[in-house]
Amino acid sequence: MQFRTTSADETRQVAAALEPLLQAGDVVLLSGDLGAGKTVFTQGLAAALGVAEQVTSPTFTLAQSYEGRLRLHHLDVYRLENLGEVLDLDLPELLEDDGVVCVEWGEVLIPELPRNFLRIRIGLAGPDDSPDMRIFEVDTIGPSWLARADALAEAWQLGVRSEAEPC
Ligand SMILES: Nc1ncnc2c1ncn2[C@@H]1O[C@H](COP(=O)(O)OP(=O)(O)O)[C@@H](O)[C@H]1O
Ligand SMILES: [Mg+2]
Repeated sequence: MQFRTTSADETRQVAAALEPLLQAGDVVLLSGDLGAGKTVFTQGLAAALGVAEQVTSPTFTLAQSYEGRLRLHHLDVYRLENLGEVLDLDLPELLEDDGVVCVEWGEVLIPELPRNFLRIRIGLAGPDDSPDMRIFEVDTIGPSWLARADALAEAWQLGVRSEAEPC
């Protein structure tokens, strides 16, 4: 699934449209260069989950948890130098919790993840495009996400119908 957004607000809307489909135990993996919009996406998700606090990048704390419709565990593994450090994050414990785990720079964790997760890759557009354009590539990994793929596509079509253009 691929689409683009043309502003940070639109990325927040896209994230908010995903929220109703989230279930306890879900894992959302976000990748993309610095400034791609991983934190912005997480902020949209958090707001839609009803998190009252402002979500910031948890780079220095590694993991930050927020109370919402589902508890949101926000991780940023940018600074982790090897997988050993990941275990210090108590990742298995967070994965067992019935919240949602949302990981920035999470590709390194793929071998440690359950078999179902949503993989979102955010890319910057070409030099001729708006600097605020982002291209989203989404993969539904595992049966649990595969079962929701159609609903997800529909939610995003409806949720971003106003501005985002399908690629
Ligand atoms: N379409 C867009 N989607 C998300 N962020 C955007 C977009 N256009 C511009 N931005 C800006 O890009 C930056 C993304 O920052 P951030 O979410 O912290 O990136 P990351 O967490 O991936 O390093 C913000 O300053 C945001 O305002
Ligand atoms: Mg970030």
